[in-house]
Amino acid sequence: MTARIIGTGSCLPIKEVSNFDLEKIMDTTDEWIKSRTGIEKRHIAVEETTTSMAIEAAKRALENAGVGAEELDLIVVGTVSADRHFPSTACEIQSTLGADKAVAFDINAACSGFLFGLSIANAYFASGCFKKALVIGAETLSKMMDWNDRSTCVLFGDGAGAAIVEAADTGIVSMVQGSDGARGGVLSCYNRPVNNPFVTNDTALDYTSMTGQEVYKFAVRTVPEAILKVLKEGNVNPDEVKYFVLHQANIRIIEAVAKRLNQPMEKFPTNLQKCGNISAASVPILLDEVNRIGMINKGDKVVLAGFGAGLTWGAALLDW
Ligand code: ACO
Repeated sequence: MTARIIGTGSCLPIKEVSNFDLEKIMDTTDEWIKSRTGIEKRHIAVEETTTSMAIEAAKRALENAGVGAEELDLIVVGTVSADRHFPSTACEIQSTLGADKAVAFDINAACSGFLFGLSIANAYFASGCFKKALVIGAETLSKMMDWNDRSTCVLFGDGAGAAIVEAADTGIVSMVQGSDGARGGVLSCYNRPVNNPFVTNDTALDYTSMTGQEVYKFAVRTVPEAILKVLKEGNVNPDEVKYFVLHQANIRIIEAVAKRLNQPMEKFPTNLQKCGNISAASVPILLDEVNRIGMINKGDKVVLAGFGAGLTWGAALLDW
């Protein structure tokens, strides 16, 4: 028994912010951002929230799969930017959709969140008690940026992507996941500090900080290794893979992975140009785009790969 993706959906905020728009509010240029990252614009939440986008993406995925919310046994949301500490985003989604019998919870694996969620669904299916899952990556990263820090805020965007996954004989062929907490400091954002009547704490709210070059080195080494491992476990040659759907952090990372795997860039669909990096939502949003325009057909081999804060990483080989 394995897990098969049978429907996808996504949702992006209405407001688009181009590099040229950013030029007007900070010391940056379209040329700097585009040449170093490939990003040209991103969607930024104004009315939307992590939960509202996740719900919309979920509805679209359910419709795409032809599945009713009442059929769901499990809802897993990968997010680092939930609207509330509790209840979880997943519980709010469960309530709104009327997915009454679903077990619902959030996970934090940063940009690997969707891959980790998929793996959790797969493991729950193996128990035999769960048959249908909704796996979501949803983020409002714009609220976690220091908009005075041009080295981070230009990289990220907001949005949500979802997939309906069901227990099946074919689907996920192989998966790998990994974590390296010892190097977690290269990409972090602190939560509320200890705060109670027994401490004096005037620490300001923290925002995302990143040592970009360390994250780059981590990504270009770890992602090809993870992909080669799932391909080996699945007994599949890179040439047999139709598309590699990677986390959309930076075009240079994707180019380096393509080169390492000796595969043409045409096999690496991208949307970072118009979306930026949406952490856990990047992979499912791109997968939804690829799915909806009919780029993948039944039986195609597709590789998904996520990597990010933690550090964490995950890859999956799918028989679509
Ligand atoms: N506009 C203009 N200048 C800028 C900007 C900006 N937005 N940001 C930084 N600079 C300047 C810096 O101040 C610095 O100037 P200085 O030399 O006068 O001090 C100069 O550009 C170079 O800065 P670096 O940080 O060294 O730039 P680098 O070439 O390393 O590029 C980048 C930064 C794009 C983040 C790169 O390190 C990278 O690709 N990292 C990969 C990590 C990544 O993509 N992370 C995304 C999130 S993590 C994830 O999803 C896994």
